[in-house]
Amino acid sequence: MEHFDVVVVGAGAAGLFCAGVAGQRGLRVLLLDHAPKLAEKIRISGGGRCNFTNREAAPANFLSDNPHFCRSALARYGAADFIALVRRHGIAFHEKHRGQLFCDHSAEDIITMLLRECEAGAVVRRQPCRVQAVRHVADGHELDTDAGPVRTHQLVIATGGLPIPKIGATDWGLRLAERSGHRIVAPRPALVPLTFDAQTWAPYAALAGLALPVQISTGSGKQRTVFQEDLLFTHRGLSGPAVLQISSYWRPGQALSIDLTHGGDLGGALLAAKLTSKRQLGNELAQHLPTRLADAFLAGSGLDAHRPMPDCRDRDLQQLAQRLQAWPITPNGDEGWKKAEVMAGGVDTRDLSSQTLASRHVPGLYFIGEAVDVTGWLGGYNFQWAWSSAFACAQSL
Ligand code: FDA
Repeated sequence: MEHFDVVVVGAGAAGLFCAGVAGQRGLRVLLLDHAPKLAEKIRISGGGRCNFTNREAAPANFLSDNPHFCRSALARYGAADFIALVRRHGIAFHEKHRGQLFCDHSAEDIITMLLRECEAGAVVRRQPCRVQAVRHVADGHELDTDAGPVRTHQLVIATGGLPIPKIGATDWGLRLAERSGHRIVAPRPALVPLTFDAQTWAPYAALAGLALPVQISTGSGKQRTVFQEDLLFTHRGLSGPAVLQISSYWRPGQALSIDLTHGGDLGGALLAAKLTSKRQLGNELAQHLPTRLADAFLAGSGLDAHRPMPDCRDRDLQQLAQRLQAWPITPNGDEGWKKAEVMAGGVDTRDLSSQTLASRHVPGLYFIGEAVDVTGWLGGYNFQWAWSSAFACAQSL
């Protein structure tokens, strides 16, 4: 039987990085992945340019049943550390929007960088290679793999989340965690487009393709979450950064409230226009909103788009403005694992050390990356969690 200090299962973002750092600390590391292609999620990320971190990454940008859990790993290895690594490898990058950093050329640059880091740590890599069984034994773990049995002191599970099953996502890591006594926070798709039943959506289906900046919120009181981002209408529902962000917080049955005017006092503006403008209501509204959107909302409100502004009733104008600035709409679901960018939920952080990502139940067992109940916002935060959790773990092996 072969012996290693560390076996990492899952050669995605977290697994590759953890293996490289551990190898460079002098540990004998084996990295296994069942997928035929290496790091497919990095390759397809950020439209092929990999939004590899966010300059602003901070604990507030992550969801978890324990929002404090990510603090320690992010403090140990933050965005600045990963940016320094990217610079050391001479990878050209740029900032796109709100701290989001993308490769100038290709996500492939990040994969090459991680492979070089693994080479520098003499990491043994086997792929495709499945793990058929894991036994936690005295002083370590035994694995039956496609390439034969392996024994290791430390076992790191970096098998990611459930999105995009066709490129290799599995619940293997979650099942292993559950079998060995760890609690699981129910996994659900996050950063995912939201859908509506046919009747609710019928008035808006013709708006497919329309994009505009909005303010979107869900929940109430202390649970209220708000984002200001672009919204995209699709044939089945709503997408775009605004909806992807809010989807991570949205729970079935909850309504969304969307300000389609992106701030400002639409009611006041319409009342003022009533006194000064000779335009028809539809044309006046189109001064504040894309014409297609203005038409769809007027049709839904029962108001006459051709009515001259001076003839409109104040109450109608105020109600119309209210509806456009706090459009209440309740999704009936989401587009699921095929379209989600990440998984919310995962291995319950109560069963892990926040400093090392080590299991509190099985000595020498670790969970890192998306498999853990830590989920980032859209914008490079999920990769940052992969790097941060991988580093914190690798340092403690
Ligand atoms: P990751 O999914 O990267 O790796 C898990 C690995 O485990 C895979 O290689 C898989 O094959 C392997 N595996 C699974 N089951 C196994 C088993 N049973 N045995 C062996 N191996 C197994 N984030 C971001 O910050 N910026 C971005 O631009 C994007 N863009 C983006 C686009 C799209 C389309 C998606 C789907 C996701 C993103 N993300 C993102 C999210 C980001 O890709 C994700 O959070 C990280 O890849 C998570 O890293 P992990 O290493 O935890 O999992």
